[in-house]
Amino acid sequence: MPEAIFVGRSLTCHFRGVTALEGLNFCIYPGEKVGLIGASGAGKSTLLSLLNGQLRPTGGELLTWGEPLAQLSPRRRRRIQRQIGTIYQQLNLVDSLAVIHNVNAGHLGRWSFLKAAFSLIFPCDRPLALAALEQVRIPEKILTRTDELSGGQKQRVALARVLVQDPAVILADEPIASLDPHLSREMMDLLAHLCDTQGKTLVISLHSLEFARSHCDRLIGLKTGKILFDQPAATVNDTQIAHLYGHQSIY
Ligand SMILES: Nc1ncnc2c1ncn2[C@@H]1O[C@H](COP(=O)(O)OP(=O)(O)OP(=O)(O)O)[C@@H](O)[C@H]1O
Ligand SMILES: [Mg+2]
Repeated sequence: MPEAIFVGRSLTCHFRGVTALEGLNFCIYPGEKVGLIGASGAGKSTLLSLLNGQLRPTGGELLTWGEPLAQLSPRRRRRIQRQIGTIYQQLNLVDSLAVIHNVNAGHLGRWSFLKAAFSLIFPCDRPLALAALEQVRIPEKILTRTDELSGGQKQRVALARVLVQDPAVILADEPIASLDPHLSREMMDLLAHLCDTQGKTLVISLHSLEFARSHCDRLIGLKTGKILFDQPAATVNDTQIAHLYGHQSIY
């Protein structure tokens, strides 16, 4: 068995009185495509924020490539975080900038401050940005202001930024939330392809059970901050899904 990328042991996260996650135990290995599913408020985004180090656990332990990210020096933490790319639910794009600048933000962990500042005037590494935008099928938008894009196009810019970063792990928080069915499939195919061909690891939160089942090889079902099941996607049955979403009908 290769070394796990993430190991959670009794992993817990509280926000002033709110228990977002409680006592999670799991391992995530290189090359896995792990889907996080569960009702709104179940803790999916919180778990992704713990995995990328944006949040610190309030209890238990999280090891990232064997290291407790939250306890490392800022420099060592950043070095590890460079290998983790995140597509956020709220995208975190700068709307007033052209698309190329948002895509080039994927370089920020590597570029010097001077190069980053220079690139805001004369964009650097245009070929790489263009190649990433071609992969997400909006190369013609490279110089468009980001606030002139549709929600789905912005979502693809966020993926292009991660492609430029070229991390070992991609964390994606509902990356198909504002895409139509055709683009959703394309985005999911692209993410799965990156894992299958480049050995990247994917941890993705999804409200679409259909895509969770078709594109992930393992599903973690979260219910009110706890793991209800963690098993191969193909073996998750409808009774488990009904239990996961509680009173909500899935039909
Ligand atoms: N910054 C915060 N401060 C206080 N409570 C928070 C904060 N972030 C999340 N929570 C709470 O933690 C719980 C889990 O939230 P989280 O955003 O992780 O859920 P989620 O599964 O991603 O939901 P959704 O499907 O709606 O995106 C919720 O009860 C939420 O209200
Ligand atoms: Mg969320």
